[in-house]
Amino acid sequence: MKKTIFSTIAFTFIFSTAVFSIELVTSETEKKIDALIEKMTLEEKIGQMTQRNARSGSEPFEGMIRDGKIGSILNEVNVEAVNRAQKIAVEESRLAIPLIVGRDVIHGFRTIFPIPLGLAATWNPQLVEEGSRIAALEARSVGVNWTFAPMMDIARDPRWGRIAEGYGEDPYLASRMAAAMVRGFQSDDLASPNALAACMKHFVGYGAAIGGRDYNTTYIPELLLRDIYLPPFKASVDAGAATLMTAFNDLNGVPATGNAFILRDILKGEWAFQGFVVSDWASVTQMVPHGYCADHKEAAEKAVVAGVDMEMETPSYADHIAELLDEGALTLEMIDDAVRRILRVKFALGLFDNPYTDTAHYPTLANEKHLAAAKEAAKQSVVLLKNDGHLLPLSKEMSVAVIGPLADAPQEQLGTWAFDGRAEESQTPLTALRDFLSPEKINYVQALPYSRAKETHDFDQAAQAAERSDVVLLFMGEEAILSGEAHCRANLDLPGAQEQLIKVIASAGKPIVLVVMAGRPLTMGNILEHIDALLYAFHPGSMGGPAVVDLLFGIDSPSGKLTVTFPKVVGQIPMYYNHKNTGRPPQASSWVHIDDIPLNAWQTSLGNESHYLDAGFTPQYPFGYGLSYTTFEYKDLQLSSPAIKMGEALTVSAVIRNSGAMRATEIVQLYCRDLAASITRPVRELKGFERITLEPGECRTVEFVLTTEDLAFPGPDMKMVAEPGAFHVWIAPSSEGGLMGEFSIAE
Ligand code: GLC
Repeated sequence: MKKTIFSTIAFTFIFSTAVFSIELVTSETEKKIDALIEKMTLEEKIGQMTQRNARSGSEPFEGMIRDGKIGSILNEVNVEAVNRAQKIAVEESRLAIPLIVGRDVIHGFRTIFPIPLGLAATWNPQLVEEGSRIAALEARSVGVNWTFAPMMDIARDPRWGRIAEGYGEDPYLASRMAAAMVRGFQSDDLASPNALAACMKHFVGYGAAIGGRDYNTTYIPELLLRDIYLPPFKASVDAGAATLMTAFNDLNGVPATGNAFILRDILKGEWAFQGFVVSDWASVTQMVPHGYCADHKEAAEKAVVAGVDMEMETPSYADHIAELLDEGALTLEMIDDAVRRILRVKFALGLFDNPYTDTAHYPTLANEKHLAAAKEAAKQSVVLLKNDGHLLPLSKEMSVAVIGPLADAPQEQLGTWAFDGRAEESQTPLTALRDFLSPEKINYVQALPYSRAKETHDFDQAAQAAERSDVVLLFMGEEAILSGEAHCRANLDLPGAQEQLIKVIASAGKPIVLVVMAGRPLTMGNILEHIDALLYAFHPGSMGGPAVVDLLFGIDSPSGKLTVTFPKVVGQIPMYYNHKNTGRPPQASSWVHIDDIPLNAWQTSLGNESHYLDAGFTPQYPFGYGLSYTTFEYKDLQLSSPAIKMGEALTVSAVIRNSGAMRATEIVQLYCRDLAASITRPVRELKGFERITLEPGECRTVEFVLTTEDLAFPGPDMKMVAEPGAFHVWIAPSSEGGLMGEFSIAE
């Protein structure tokens, strides 16, 4: 009987409302802004509202910068060029207003961390915050002072390529991660030379694009907006995010970039957001093809009226605002408010006092310390989905066949939106294996040159490598280009001939570990029977190789858990854990697989419930799921009371025990269900989580404090309301199973 070690209680408060110290509005700054606006000509005001793309250098814009016709550039990452452009703005323009310089620093700058969908799988906001701080340091070193991140679009459809860039399907987890990234980028002093202004994006509902087709139409009732899509943005506003970017989608018939309801009523009204709003790339003029504006002039008008303060890339503001003012379509107050917001952020960034970048202040890019942080993030982002017969971890004595198109693809493993990552700084699994094992232990056959390849001429050589090895390590998935913006897929199986290759390798009869690198959940039902273990690494970034090898050989146990549901087949999409129960919830007892339905079956013999005859009603892997090299026992659920009054708190605890033989980390999750409410509620809602690391045999009591505020939801009047009634509560290892208790909120 293992000695049971009781360690201290791990407390977690559901809403650790981060007291953000980013003050965009101070009386001192507002006075300076008043004085500046007083002096500015209309052309200079419009200039602040104009951002141009300097991807091919900022020289072409130097004249416009000198004339005060540009307030921001994006995509200039040559520090000399940035300093030169800034010098023109500050020393040669009439009012010396510095530029704000933007770049997509989404999951790292030069040191690339796992894609955000992988970072989310760490369930470690602190680690995400630290990674964002490193990204900010590296980006600032080249003159970038504004990142177009965090992207916090809730995604329930893995066909959508941009699911890679967000944190998955749950608003609570996405809120925690987004706020952590905001704090990481901005630190607690936005005027520090190490801070980046954050940009919450894409506001709002972009991930709900019909069919998972990027840029496509979204219809989202206000209740659903407030319940699912808005919370991460509100959490980021509360964390002090300085800017926000509008989305490309048409939201209920009004493009987000021209949507006063979300921008003026909710963001700047209800939430009193004091930073500025930037459009997405040409999303102002795209309101013409949307069919919402007749021409660019009307697009400029509708964007300004809706509350878009700065136009990215296109010149409709520069071309039409003066005329629109003359015609009375716009007011000077609107323009002055936009300019005020932009100047607020520039003052908060300290750019008026310190506009230039002193490269001597910054550490080397992609240095050892940064890469070590990226490796730790990659390690915690990997999710163990299958481990039959405890095949993993492997022994160093084993010979390994290393096979597949992603075993040695340094650029691909960086994932989407890794603009400034470099293949030569990216360490692949093959590189890491060669560092870790003696050479005679490794039999490497690429077998497919890339994931979509269909040529099979190297398959025999791969099968022979498998035959002469103790275990097969397959590295497969998607290239980086197959996810991200505009890169949606209608078939989520492993691309190309990868499935065929797995079946060929399986015929060698050796144990197989499949490591998947992808920007989204893939449907793997066709191959799961042929593999013994499955590690899902998403796109793990610069240090993906060493991180995966540490896990393969048990230096650490995997600890990641999914933040998005993995469907069995594409036909199940959309499928997510926090779904409604419906009036006819599916029962395992009544589902009959389509192949097992008897002939001449009576019409109502199959049960009238919400499921698929050919795919049932459960996913391949549920939200919150992830295995470990040890086992964790959940016991002794305790509730502080069977009932609480409105405004009171409930304490829920359970004892978690490492009942296996290896030190490992478990992500303990808290879920609730409101059984009957004025608006139907999901069968489960994540309300908290706690990472705990336990030695073999060690026990820990994990305690959550749940307030009635945590149980509030958008009611019929769209206001957040907690209602009396019965609730279920779980402390669980995933969104399925766990220890369940019952409590009520008393009348
Ligand atoms: C892109 C993306 C947005 C990005 C911007 C600048 O189209 O939608 O997320 O920040 O343009 O690159």
